[in-house]
Amino acid sequence: MFVKHLLPAFVAIGSVAAQSTCTVEESTTTVNSQADATKLASCDVVDGSVVIGTDTGARIDISGPKEITGSLEVLDNGVLETLTSSDLEKIGGAFTMRNVTLLTALDFSKLTQVQSLNWQSLNRIATLRLGPISQAEEVTISDTFLDKLDGIDLESVRKLDINNNMRLQKFTTQLKDLSDSLNIQANGIGLNVSFPNLVWIANMTIANVTDFSVPSLEVVNGSARFDSNYFESFSAPNLTHTESGDISFVGNGELKNMTFPKLTTIGGGLLIANNTGLDKVDFFPELQTVGGAVKLRGNFTEVDFPALEDVKGAFDVSSTADIQSSCDNLLKKAPQNQGGDGKIQGTFSCTGLNENANEDTDSEPTGDGDVTGSNGGDDKGSGAAGVTFNAALFGLVGIAVLASAL
Ligand SMILES: *[C@@H]1O[C@H](CO)[C@@H](O)[C@H](O)[C@H]1NC(C)=O
Ligand SMILES: *[C@@H]1O[C@H](CO)[C@@H](O)[C@H](O)[C@H]1NC(C)=O
Ligand SMILES: *[C@@H]1O[C@H](CO)[C@@H](O)[C@H](O)[C@H]1NC(C)=O
Ligand SMILES: *[C@@H]1O[C@H](CO)[C@@H](O)[C@H](O)[C@H]1NC(C)=O
Ligand SMILES: *[C@@H]1O[C@H](CO)[C@@H](O)[C@H](O)[C@H]1NC(C)=O
Ligand SMILES: *[C@@H]1O[C@H](CO)[C@@H](O)[C@H](O)[C@H]1NC(C)=O
Ligand SMILES: *[C@@H]1O[C@H](CO)[C@@H](O)[C@H](O)[C@H]1NC(C)=O
Ligand SMILES: *[C@@H]1O[C@H](CO)[C@@H](O)[C@H](O)[C@H]1NC(C)=O
Ligand SMILES: *[C@@H]1O[C@H](CO)[C@@H](O)[C@H](O)[C@H]1NC(C)=O
Repeated sequence: MFVKHLLPAFVAIGSVAAQSTCTVEESTTTVNSQADATKLASCDVVDGSVVIGTDTGARIDISGPKEITGSLEVLDNGVLETLTSSDLEKIGGAFTMRNVTLLTALDFSKLTQVQSLNWQSLNRIATLRLGPISQAEEVTISDTFLDKLDGIDLESVRKLDINNNMRLQKFTTQLKDLSDSLNIQANGIGLNVSFPNLVWIANMTIANVTDFSVPSLEVVNGSARFDSNYFESFSAPNLTHTESGDISFVGNGELKNMTFPKLTTIGGGLLIANNTGLDKVDFFPELQTVGGAVKLRGNFTEVDFPALEDVKGAFDVSSTADIQSSCDNLLKKAPQNQGGDGKIQGTFSCTGLNENANEDTDSEPTGDGDVTGSNGGDDKGSGAAGVTFNAALFGLVGIAVLASAL
Protein backbone atom coordinates (compact mmCIF):
# COMPACT_ATOMS: atom_id res chain seq x y z
CA MET A 1 0.00 0.00 0.00
CA PHE A 2 0.93 3.60 -0.49
CA VAL A 3 -0.58 4.75 2.83
CA LYS A 4 2.87 5.57 4.13
CA HIS A 5 3.20 8.24 1.50
CA LEU A 6 -0.17 9.79 2.11
CA LEU A 7 1.52 13.06 2.89
CA PRO A 8 4.39 13.16 0.45
CA ALA A 9 7.11 15.70 0.86
CA PHE A 10 7.89 17.79 -2.17
CA VAL A 11 11.21 19.29 -2.94
CA ALA A 12 10.89 22.38 -5.04
CA ILE A 13 13.61 22.54 -7.65
CA GLY A 14 14.25 25.43 -9.99
CA SER A 15 14.29 29.04 -9.07
CA VAL A 16 11.85 30.33 -11.67
CA ALA A 17 8.66 30.72 -9.71
CA ALA A 18 6.46 30.05 -12.71
CA GLN A 19 7.99 26.62 -13.31
CA SER A 20 8.03 24.56 -10.14
CA THR A 21 8.97 20.93 -10.25
CA CYS A 22 7.83 18.83 -7.32
CA THR A 23 9.82 15.67 -6.78
CA VAL A 24 7.70 12.96 -5.24
CA GLU A 25 9.29 11.16 -2.33
CA GLU A 26 9.92 7.46 -3.06
CA SER A 27 8.82 8.18 -6.63
CA THR A 28 5.05 7.58 -6.14
CA THR A 29 2.41 9.65 -4.43
CA THR A 30 -1.06 8.38 -3.62
CA VAL A 31 -4.09 10.61 -3.96
CA ASN A 32 -6.90 9.38 -1.75
CA SER A 33 -8.86 12.60 -1.36
CA GLN A 34 -9.33 15.98 -2.99
CA ALA A 35 -7.07 17.40 -0.26
CA ASP A 36 -4.23 15.12 -1.47
CA ALA A 37 -4.86 16.27 -5.04
CA THR A 38 -4.85 19.93 -4.03
CA LYS A 39 -1.35 19.47 -2.55
CA LEU A 40 -0.12 18.92 -6.10
CA ALA A 41 -1.85 22.02 -7.45
CA SER A 42 1.12 24.34 -7.06
CA CYS A 43 3.44 22.03 -9.02
CA ASP A 44 3.88 22.57 -12.75
CA VAL A 45 5.68 19.27 -13.04
CA VAL A 46 5.24 16.28 -10.78
CA ASP A 47 8.49 14.35 -11.00
CA GLY A 48 7.32 10.82 -10.21
CA SER A 49 4.15 8.76 -10.47
CA VAL A 50 0.67 9.46 -9.17
CA VAL A 51 -1.63 6.71 -7.93
CA ILE A 52 -5.28 7.51 -7.35
CA GLY A 53 -6.25 5.32 -4.38
CA THR A 54 -9.42 3.38 -3.76
CA ASP A 55 -11.05 5.65 -1.10
CA THR A 56 -11.19 8.84 -3.12
CA GLY A 57 -14.84 9.74 -2.96
CA ALA A 58 -16.74 10.62 -6.12
CA ARG A 59 -14.70 13.48 -7.55
CA ILE A 60 -11.01 14.16 -7.95
CA ASP A 61 -9.62 17.23 -9.67
CA ILE A 62 -5.86 17.16 -10.19
CA SER A 63 -5.60 20.53 -11.88
CA GLY A 64 -2.31 22.37 -11.54
CA PRO A 65 0.43 20.11 -12.90
CA LYS A 66 1.03 20.29 -16.64
CA GLU A 67 3.15 17.17 -16.55
CA ILE A 68 3.51 13.96 -14.58
CA THR A 69 6.89 12.46 -15.49
CA GLY A 70 5.98 8.96 -14.29
CA SER A 71 2.69 7.14 -14.61
CA LEU A 72 -0.87 7.89 -13.56
CA GLU A 73 -2.79 4.92 -12.24
CA VAL A 74 -6.32 4.22 -10.98
CA LEU A 75 -6.96 0.57 -10.06
CA ASP A 76 -9.93 -1.19 -8.46
CA ASN A 77 -11.68 2.00 -7.48
CA GLY A 78 -15.43 1.55 -6.94
CA VAL A 79 -16.27 5.10 -5.82
CA LEU A 80 -14.71 7.57 -8.25
CA GLU A 81 -17.23 9.13 -10.67
CA THR A 82 -15.36 12.02 -12.24
CA LEU A 83 -11.66 12.57 -12.73
CA THR A 84 -10.58 15.94 -14.10
CA SER A 85 -7.62 18.16 -14.71
CA SER A 86 -7.77 21.40 -16.63
CA ASP A 87 -3.96 21.63 -16.94
CA LEU A 88 -2.40 18.20 -17.48
CA GLU A 89 -0.74 18.04 -20.91
CA LYS A 90 1.66 15.13 -20.63
CA ILE A 91 2.05 11.84 -18.78
CA GLY A 92 5.59 10.52 -19.24
CA GLY A 93 4.66 6.94 -18.36
CA ALA A 94 1.55 4.82 -18.58
CA PHE A 95 -1.95 6.15 -17.98
CA THR A 96 -3.65 3.09 -16.53
CA MET A 97 -7.25 2.84 -15.36
CA ARG A 98 -8.52 -0.63 -14.56
CA ASN A 99 -11.71 -1.72 -12.83
CA VAL A 100 -12.93 1.78 -12.08
CA THR A 101 -16.55 0.78 -12.18
CA LEU A 102 -18.40 4.00 -11.36
CA LEU A 103 -16.28 6.41 -13.38
CA THR A 104 -18.65 8.20 -15.77
CA ALA A 105 -16.56 11.14 -16.95
CA LEU A 106 -12.92 11.80 -17.61
CA ASP A 107 -12.07 15.39 -18.46
CA PHE A 108 -8.40 15.98 -19.22
CA SER A 109 -9.04 18.57 -21.88
CA LYS A 110 -5.36 19.48 -22.43
CA LEU A 111 -3.86 15.99 -22.36
CA THR A 112 -2.11 15.30 -25.68
CA GLN A 113 0.84 13.04 -24.80
CA VAL A 114 1.09 9.78 -22.92
CA GLN A 115 3.62 7.01 -23.23
CA SER A 116 0.85 4.44 -23.17
CA LEU A 117 -2.83 4.28 -22.39
CA ASN A 118 -4.29 1.19 -20.80
CA TRP A 119 -7.97 1.37 -19.89
CA GLN A 120 -9.89 -1.72 -18.93
CA SER A 121 -13.24 -2.36 -17.26
CA LEU A 122 -14.53 1.18 -17.05
CA ASN A 123 -18.10 -0.03 -17.20
CA ARG A 124 -19.81 3.34 -16.96
CA ILE A 125 -17.52 5.80 -18.66
CA ALA A 126 -19.58 7.64 -21.24
CA THR A 127 -17.97 11.07 -21.42
CA LEU A 128 -14.41 11.48 -22.51
CA ARG A 129 -12.68 14.79 -23.03
CA LEU A 130 -9.05 14.62 -24.01
CA GLY A 131 -6.60 17.01 -25.71
CA PRO A 132 -7.03 14.98 -28.03
CA ILE A 133 -4.18 12.56 -27.42
CA SER A 134 -1.97 12.76 -30.48
CA GLN A 135 1.12 10.98 -29.17
CA ALA A 136 1.22 7.53 -27.58
CA GLU A 137 3.16 4.35 -28.23
CA GLU A 138 0.53 1.85 -27.09
CA VAL A 139 -3.20 2.21 -26.56
CA THR A 140 -5.56 -0.41 -25.12
CA ILE A 141 -9.23 0.40 -24.56
CA SER A 142 -11.21 -2.57 -23.38
CA ASP A 143 -14.61 -3.10 -21.81
CA THR A 144 -15.78 0.49 -21.53
CA PHE A 145 -19.15 2.19 -22.02
CA LEU A 146 -17.80 4.65 -24.60
CA ASP A 147 -19.73 5.19 -27.82
CA LYS A 148 -16.97 7.13 -29.54
CA LEU A 149 -13.25 7.70 -29.13
CA ASP A 150 -12.91 11.23 -30.45
CA GLY A 151 -10.25 12.06 -27.86
CA ILE A 152 -7.75 9.61 -29.35
CA ASP A 153 -6.27 10.90 -32.58
CA LEU A 154 -2.79 9.49 -33.03
CA GLU A 155 -0.55 10.02 -36.03
CA SER A 156 1.65 7.08 -35.28
CA VAL A 157 1.42 4.24 -32.78
CA ARG A 158 3.05 0.90 -32.11
CA LYS A 159 0.07 -1.03 -30.75
CA LEU A 160 -3.62 -0.24 -30.74
CA ASP A 161 -6.15 -2.60 -29.17
CA ILE A 162 -9.84 -1.71 -29.02
CA ASN A 163 -11.97 -4.59 -27.73
CA ASN A 164 -15.21 -5.36 -25.90
CA ASN A 165 -16.53 -1.81 -25.95
CA MET A 166 -20.15 -2.77 -26.48
CA ARG A 167 -21.49 0.71 -27.23
CA LEU A 168 -18.76 1.83 -29.59
CA GLN A 169 -20.22 3.02 -32.92
CA LYS A 170 -17.42 4.84 -34.54
CA PHE A 171 -13.64 4.94 -34.49
CA THR A 172 -11.67 7.14 -36.79
CA THR A 173 -8.15 8.51 -36.45
CA GLN A 174 -5.65 10.40 -38.57
CA LEU A 175 -3.16 7.52 -38.01
CA LYS A 176 -0.52 7.29 -40.75
CA ASP A 177 1.39 4.23 -39.63
CA LEU A 178 1.23 1.48 -37.05
CA SER A 179 4.40 -0.47 -36.39
CA ASP A 180 3.35 -3.51 -34.36
CA SER A 181 -0.30 -4.55 -34.16
CA LEU A 182 -3.84 -3.31 -34.49
CA ASN A 183 -6.55 -5.34 -32.85
CA ILE A 184 -10.19 -4.35 -33.11
CA GLN A 185 -12.66 -6.99 -32.03
CA ALA A 186 -15.73 -7.92 -30.01
CA ASN A 187 -17.00 -4.37 -29.81
CA GLY A 188 -20.67 -3.48 -30.26
CA ILE A 189 -22.54 -4.42 -33.40
CA GLY A 190 -22.52 -1.43 -35.72
CA LEU A 191 -18.94 -0.26 -35.24
CA ASN A 192 -17.57 1.68 -38.19
CA VAL A 193 -13.80 2.00 -38.34
CA SER A 194 -12.06 4.45 -40.59
CA PHE A 195 -8.36 5.20 -41.01
CA PRO A 196 -8.41 7.73 -43.84
CA ASN A 197 -4.64 8.45 -43.72
CA LEU A 198 -3.18 5.05 -42.87
CA VAL A 199 -0.36 4.25 -45.32
CA TRP A 200 1.35 1.26 -43.77
CA ILE A 201 0.54 -1.10 -40.95
CA ALA A 202 2.43 -4.06 -39.48
CA ASN A 203 -0.19 -6.55 -38.29
CA MET A 204 -3.93 -6.23 -38.04
CA THR A 205 -6.81 -8.30 -36.74
CA ILE A 206 -10.25 -6.91 -37.42
CA ALA A 207 -13.36 -8.74 -36.21
CA ASN A 208 -17.03 -7.93 -35.62
CA VAL A 209 -16.81 -4.64 -37.48
CA THR A 210 -19.61 -3.22 -39.68
CA ASP A 211 -17.57 -0.94 -41.85
CA PHE A 212 -13.81 -0.75 -42.34
CA SER A 213 -12.19 1.89 -44.48
CA VAL A 214 -8.49 2.20 -45.41
CA PRO A 215 -8.48 4.26 -48.61
CA SER A 216 -4.76 5.17 -48.40
CA LEU A 217 -3.29 1.86 -47.25
CA GLU A 218 -0.34 0.85 -49.41
CA VAL A 219 1.61 -1.77 -47.48
CA VAL A 220 0.87 -4.38 -44.86
CA ASN A 221 4.23 -5.26 -43.35
CA GLY A 222 2.86 -8.17 -41.32
CA SER A 223 -0.45 -10.03 -41.53
CA ALA A 224 -4.00 -8.83 -42.04
CA ARG A 225 -6.89 -10.92 -40.83
CA PHE A 226 -10.57 -10.19 -41.01
CA ASP A 227 -12.87 -12.53 -39.09
CA SER A 228 -16.63 -12.50 -38.50
CA ASN A 229 -17.17 -8.97 -39.72
CA TYR A 230 -20.50 -7.63 -40.93
CA PHE A 231 -19.39 -5.56 -43.91
CA GLU A 232 -20.81 -6.27 -47.36
CA SER A 233 -17.80 -5.02 -49.23
CA PHE A 234 -14.15 -4.48 -48.55
CA SER A 235 -11.90 -2.29 -50.56
CA ALA A 236 -8.16 -1.68 -50.43
CA PRO A 237 -7.83 0.65 -53.43
CA ASN A 238 -4.17 1.57 -52.87
CA LEU A 239 -2.74 -1.63 -51.37
CA THR A 240 0.22 -2.78 -53.46
CA HIS A 241 1.79 -5.52 -51.34
CA THR A 242 2.13 -7.29 -48.06
CA GLU A 243 5.73 -7.84 -47.02
CA SER A 244 5.81 -11.08 -45.11
CA GLY A 245 2.50 -11.98 -43.57
CA ASP A 246 -0.77 -13.53 -44.62
CA ILE A 247 -4.03 -12.06 -45.72
CA SER A 248 -7.12 -13.84 -44.47
CA PHE A 249 -10.86 -13.33 -44.60
CA VAL A 250 -12.81 -15.94 -42.62
CA GLY A 251 -16.49 -16.10 -41.69
CA ASN A 252 -17.48 -12.65 -42.93
CA GLY A 253 -21.04 -13.74 -43.60
CA GLU A 254 -22.29 -10.56 -45.28
CA LEU A 255 -19.32 -10.07 -47.58
CA LYS A 256 -20.35 -9.90 -51.24
CA ASN A 257 -17.58 -8.01 -52.91
CA MET A 258 -13.92 -7.11 -52.44
CA THR A 259 -11.59 -4.90 -54.44
CA PHE A 260 -7.79 -5.03 -54.53
CA PRO A 261 -7.04 -3.27 -57.82
CA LYS A 262 -3.31 -2.66 -57.18
CA LEU A 263 -2.25 -5.65 -55.10
CA THR A 264 0.67 -7.38 -56.83
CA THR A 265 2.39 -9.32 -54.05
CA ILE A 266 1.32 -11.17 -50.94
CA GLY A 267 4.45 -12.01 -48.93
CA GLY A 268 2.78 -14.80 -46.97
CA GLY A 269 -0.32 -16.86 -47.70
CA LEU A 270 -3.87 -16.05 -48.74
CA LEU A 271 -6.86 -17.60 -46.97
CA ILE A 272 -10.45 -16.84 -47.94
CA ALA A 273 -12.94 -19.17 -46.26
CA ASN A 274 -16.57 -19.39 -45.19
CA ASN A 275 -17.57 -15.98 -46.52
CA THR A 276 -20.77 -17.53 -47.82
CA GLY A 277 -22.11 -14.46 -49.64
CA LEU A 278 -19.03 -14.15 -51.85
CA ASP A 279 -19.90 -15.67 -55.18
CA LYS A 280 -16.79 -14.82 -57.14
CA VAL A 281 -13.10 -14.64 -56.28
CA ASP A 282 -12.07 -12.42 -59.14
CA PHE A 283 -10.89 -9.33 -57.32
CA PHE A 284 -7.11 -9.74 -57.62
CA PRO A 285 -6.58 -8.47 -61.17
CA GLU A 286 -2.86 -7.67 -60.64
CA LEU A 287 -1.80 -10.30 -58.12
CA GLN A 288 1.41 -11.91 -59.40
CA THR A 289 3.27 -13.39 -56.45
CA VAL A 290 2.19 -15.23 -53.33
CA GLY A 291 4.99 -16.17 -50.91
CA GLY A 292 2.95 -18.83 -49.11
CA ALA A 293 -0.06 -20.94 -50.03
CA VAL A 294 -3.46 -19.96 -51.41
CA LYS A 295 -6.46 -21.60 -49.79
CA LEU A 296 -10.02 -20.75 -50.83
CA ARG A 297 -13.22 -22.20 -49.41
CA GLY A 298 -16.72 -20.90 -50.05
CA ASN A 299 -19.88 -20.75 -52.11
CA PHE A 300 -18.28 -19.13 -55.13
CA THR A 301 -18.97 -20.10 -58.73
CA GLU A 302 -15.88 -18.51 -60.23
CA VAL A 303 -12.22 -18.16 -59.29
CA ASP A 304 -9.86 -16.14 -61.40
CA PHE A 305 -6.31 -14.92 -60.82
CA PRO A 306 -5.46 -13.52 -64.26
CA ALA A 307 -1.97 -12.16 -63.45
CA LEU A 308 -0.66 -14.96 -61.24
CA GLU A 309 2.98 -15.78 -61.98
CA ASP A 310 4.36 -17.43 -58.87
CA VAL A 311 2.80 -19.19 -55.90
CA LYS A 312 5.45 -20.67 -53.63
CA GLY A 313 3.06 -22.89 -51.69
CA ALA A 314 -0.01 -24.98 -52.45
CA PHE A 315 -3.06 -23.71 -54.31
CA ASP A 316 -6.11 -25.31 -52.76
CA VAL A 317 -9.65 -24.38 -53.81
CA SER A 318 -12.96 -25.94 -52.86
CA SER A 319 -16.49 -24.62 -53.30
CA THR A 320 -20.04 -25.71 -52.60
CA ALA A 321 -20.83 -24.65 -56.18
CA ASP A 322 -19.78 -26.06 -59.52
CA ILE A 323 -16.45 -24.46 -60.40
CA GLN A 324 -15.28 -26.85 -63.09
CA SER A 325 -14.48 -24.19 -65.66
CA SER A 326 -12.44 -22.17 -63.15
CA CYS A 327 -10.58 -25.35 -62.12
CA ASP A 328 -9.79 -26.13 -65.75
CA ASN A 329 -8.43 -22.66 -66.19
CA LEU A 330 -6.38 -22.64 -62.98
CA LEU A 331 -4.93 -26.07 -63.74
CA LYS A 332 -2.81 -24.40 -66.46
CA LYS A 333 -0.75 -22.84 -63.66
CA ALA A 334 -0.41 -26.07 -61.65
CA PRO A 335 2.99 -27.72 -61.05
CA GLN A 336 4.40 -29.45 -64.13
CA ASN A 337 3.89 -32.91 -62.62
CA GLN A 338 0.18 -32.08 -62.38
CA GLY A 339 0.07 -30.94 -66.00
CA GLY A 340 0.48 -27.19 -65.62
CA ASP A 341 3.23 -24.70 -66.40
CA GLY A 342 4.60 -24.64 -62.83
CA LYS A 343 3.62 -21.12 -61.81
CA ILE A 344 2.12 -22.79 -58.78
CA GLN A 345 4.96 -24.58 -56.98
CA GLY A 346 3.04 -26.44 -54.28
CA THR A 347 0.26 -28.98 -54.77
CA PHE A 348 -2.66 -27.81 -56.87
CA SER A 349 -6.11 -28.90 -55.81
CA CYS A 350 -9.49 -27.62 -57.03
CA THR A 351 -12.87 -29.17 -56.28
CA GLY A 352 -16.47 -28.06 -56.73
CA LEU A 353 -19.84 -29.34 -55.46
CA ASN A 354 -18.33 -29.97 -52.02
CA GLU A 355 -21.18 -29.29 -49.63
CA ASN A 356 -18.78 -29.11 -46.69
CA ALA A 357 -16.52 -26.54 -48.29
CA ASN A 358 -17.32 -23.91 -45.68
CA GLU A 359 -16.49 -26.19 -42.76
CA ASP A 360 -12.79 -26.00 -43.42
CA THR A 361 -11.55 -22.62 -42.21
CA ASP A 362 -8.19 -23.89 -41.10
CA SER A 363 -5.22 -21.89 -42.24
CA GLU A 364 -3.38 -25.03 -43.36
CA PRO A 365 -3.91 -26.11 -46.93
CA THR A 366 -5.08 -29.71 -46.89
CA GLY A 367 -2.65 -32.23 -48.36
CA ASP A 368 0.46 -30.10 -47.82
CA GLY A 369 2.24 -33.25 -46.63
CA ASP A 370 2.23 -34.41 -50.26
CA VAL A 371 4.26 -31.51 -51.48
CA THR A 372 7.72 -32.99 -50.94
CA GLY A 373 6.78 -36.17 -52.78
CA SER A 374 4.99 -34.57 -55.71
CA ASN A 375 7.59 -31.90 -56.25
CA GLY A 376 10.37 -34.47 -55.83
CA GLY A 377 12.52 -34.45 -58.96
CA ASP A 378 11.52 -31.11 -60.54
CA ASP A 379 14.20 -28.58 -59.78
CA LYS A 380 16.81 -28.43 -57.09
CA GLY A 381 15.50 -27.85 -53.61
CA SER A 382 11.92 -27.18 -54.63
CA GLY A 383 10.66 -30.09 -52.55
CA ALA A 384 12.10 -28.80 -49.31
CA ALA A 385 11.08 -25.28 -50.18
CA GLY A 386 7.55 -26.50 -50.81
CA VAL A 387 7.24 -27.94 -47.33
CA THR A 388 8.53 -24.78 -45.71
CA PHE A 389 6.35 -22.42 -47.66
CA ASN A 390 3.23 -24.49 -47.24
CA ALA A 391 3.63 -24.80 -43.53
CA ALA A 392 4.47 -21.13 -43.33
CA LEU A 393 1.00 -20.04 -44.39
CA PHE A 394 0.57 -19.09 -40.79
CA GLY A 395 3.90 -18.29 -39.19
CA LEU A 396 4.14 -20.33 -36.01
CA VAL A 397 3.33 -23.64 -37.59
CA GLY A 398 5.94 -22.91 -40.23
CA ILE A 399 8.58 -22.32 -37.61
CA ALA A 400 7.64 -25.49 -35.75
CA VAL A 401 7.83 -27.65 -38.87
CA LEU A 402 11.08 -26.08 -39.97
CA ALA A 403 12.62 -26.46 -36.52
CA SER A 404 11.69 -30.13 -36.30
CA ALA A 405 13.10 -30.69 -39.76
CA LEU A 406 16.50 -29.29 -38.76
C1 LIG B 1 -12.73 -4.39 -8.86
O1 LIG B 1 -12.68 -3.44 -7.83
C2 LIG B 1 -13.51 -3.79 -6.72
C3 LIG B 1 -13.44 -2.63 -5.74
O2 LIG B 1 -14.02 -1.52 -6.33
C4 LIG B 1 -13.03 -5.08 -6.11
O3 LIG B 1 -13.87 -5.45 -5.04
C5 LIG B 1 -13.04 -6.16 -7.15
O4 LIG B 1 -12.48 -7.34 -6.63
C6 LIG B 1 -12.22 -5.71 -8.35
N1 LIG B 1 -12.38 -6.71 -9.39
C7 LIG B 1 -11.35 -7.28 -9.96
C8 LIG B 1 -11.67 -8.26 -11.04
O5 LIG B 1 -10.21 -7.05 -9.62
C1 LIG C 1 6.55 -1.08 -43.44
O1 LIG C 1 6.67 -0.80 -44.81
C2 LIG C 1 6.84 0.57 -45.11
C3 LIG C 1 6.80 0.72 -46.62
O2 LIG C 1 7.55 -0.26 -47.25
C4 LIG C 1 8.16 1.04 -44.52
O3 LIG C 1 8.34 2.41 -44.78
C5 LIG C 1 8.13 0.81 -43.02
O4 LIG C 1 9.34 1.17 -42.43
C6 LIG C 1 7.82 -0.64 -42.70
N1 LIG C 1 7.62 -0.76 -41.27
C7 LIG C 1 8.05 -1.79 -40.55
C8 LIG C 1 7.74 -1.77 -39.10
O5 LIG C 1 8.66 -2.71 -41.04
C1 LIG D 1 -21.73 2.51 -40.47
O1 LIG D 1 -21.57 1.98 -41.78
C2 LIG D 1 -22.77 1.45 -42.30
C3 LIG D 1 -22.43 0.72 -43.59
O2 LIG D 1 -21.51 1.43 -44.37
C4 LIG D 1 -23.76 2.60 -42.49
O3 LIG D 1 -24.96 2.10 -43.01
C5 LIG D 1 -24.02 3.23 -41.11
O4 LIG D 1 -24.86 4.35 -41.27
C6 LIG D 1 -22.72 3.67 -40.47
N1 LIG D 1 -22.98 4.05 -39.10
C7 LIG D 1 -22.46 5.15 -38.57
C8 LIG D 1 -22.75 5.40 -37.11
O5 LIG D 1 -21.75 5.94 -39.20
C1 LIG E 1 -16.77 -11.81 -33.19
O1 LIG E 1 -15.64 -12.33 -33.88
C2 LIG E 1 -15.16 -13.56 -33.34
C3 LIG E 1 -13.95 -13.93 -34.15
O2 LIG E 1 -12.89 -13.12 -33.81
C4 LIG E 1 -16.23 -14.62 -33.46
O3 LIG E 1 -15.77 -15.81 -32.87
C5 LIG E 1 -17.49 -14.16 -32.76
O4 LIG E 1 -18.51 -15.08 -33.00
C6 LIG E 1 -17.92 -12.79 -33.31
N1 LIG E 1 -19.08 -12.32 -32.58
C7 LIG E 1 -20.17 -11.93 -33.19
C8 LIG E 1 -21.28 -11.44 -32.30
O5 LIG E 1 -20.27 -11.92 -34.40
C1 LIG F 1 -3.50 6.34 -53.80
O1 LIG F 1 -2.23 6.33 -54.42
C2 LIG F 1 -2.07 7.35 -55.40
C3 LIG F 1 -0.77 7.11 -56.13
O2 LIG F 1 0.25 6.79 -55.22
C4 LIG F 1 -2.14 8.69 -54.72
O3 LIG F 1 -2.00 9.73 -55.68
C5 LIG F 1 -3.50 8.83 -54.04
O4 LIG F 1 -3.56 10.04 -53.33
C6 LIG F 1 -3.72 7.66 -53.08
N1 LIG F 1 -5.06 7.72 -52.57
C7 LIG F 1 -5.34 7.88 -51.29
C8 LIG F 1 -6.78 7.94 -50.91
O5 LIG F 1 -4.47 7.96 -50.46
C1 LIG G 1 3.53 -9.26 -36.83
O1 LIG G 1 3.24 -10.13 -35.75
C2 LIG G 1 4.11 -11.25 -35.70
C3 LIG G 1 3.62 -12.21 -34.66
O2 LIG G 1 2.90 -11.57 -33.67
C4 LIG G 1 5.51 -10.75 -35.41
O3 LIG G 1 6.40 -11.85 -35.38
C5 LIG G 1 5.92 -9.83 -36.54
O4 LIG G 1 7.18 -9.29 -36.25
C6 LIG G 1 4.92 -8.70 -36.69
N1 LIG G 1 5.26 -7.95 -37.89
C7 LIG G 1 5.70 -6.72 -37.84
C8 LIG G 1 6.08 -6.10 -39.14
O5 LIG G 1 5.76 -6.11 -36.79
C1 LIG H 1 -19.06 -19.85 -40.99
O1 LIG H 1 -19.53 -18.51 -40.78
C2 LIG H 1 -20.77 -18.44 -40.11
C3 LIG H 1 -21.14 -16.97 -39.99
O2 LIG H 1 -21.26 -16.41 -41.24
C4 LIG H 1 -20.66 -19.08 -38.74
O3 LIG H 1 -21.91 -19.08 -38.11
C5 LIG H 1 -20.14 -20.50 -38.87
O4 LIG H 1 -19.93 -21.03 -37.59
C6 LIG H 1 -18.84 -20.51 -39.65
N1 LIG H 1 -18.41 -21.88 -39.84
C7 LIG H 1 -17.18 -22.29 -39.54
C8 LIG H 1 -16.87 -23.72 -39.78
O5 LIG H 1 -16.34 -21.54 -39.07
C1 LIG I 1 -17.63 -4.31 -56.12
O1 LIG I 1 -17.31 -3.02 -55.57
C2 LIG I 1 -16.76 -2.12 -56.50
C3 LIG I 1 -16.44 -0.84 -55.80
O2 LIG I 1 -16.12 -1.04 -54.47
C4 LIG I 1 -17.74 -1.88 -57.64
O3 LIG I 1 -17.13 -1.06 -58.60
C5 LIG I 1 -18.13 -3.20 -58.25
O4 LIG I 1 -19.13 -2.98 -59.20
C6 LIG I 1 -18.65 -4.15 -57.21
N1 LIG I 1 -18.94 -5.42 -57.83
C7 LIG I 1 -20.01 -6.13 -57.52
C8 LIG I 1 -20.14 -7.43 -58.21
O5 LIG I 1 -20.83 -5.74 -56.71
C1 LIG J 1 -23.64 -21.70 -49.14
O1 LIG J 1 -23.67 -23.07 -49.51
C2 LIG J 1 -24.31 -23.91 -48.57
C3 LIG J 1 -24.14 -25.34 -49.04
O2 LIG J 1 -24.57 -25.47 -50.37
C4 LIG J 1 -25.77 -23.50 -48.45
O3 LIG J 1 -26.38 -24.31 -47.46
C5 LIG J 1 -25.87 -22.05 -48.06
O4 LIG J 1 -27.21 -21.63 -48.05
C6 LIG J 1 -25.08 -21.18 -49.01
N1 LIG J 1 -25.07 -19.83 -48.50
C7 LIG J 1 -25.27 -18.78 -49.27
C8 LIG J 1 -25.27 -17.44 -48.58
O5 LIG J 1 -25.43 -18.86 -50.47
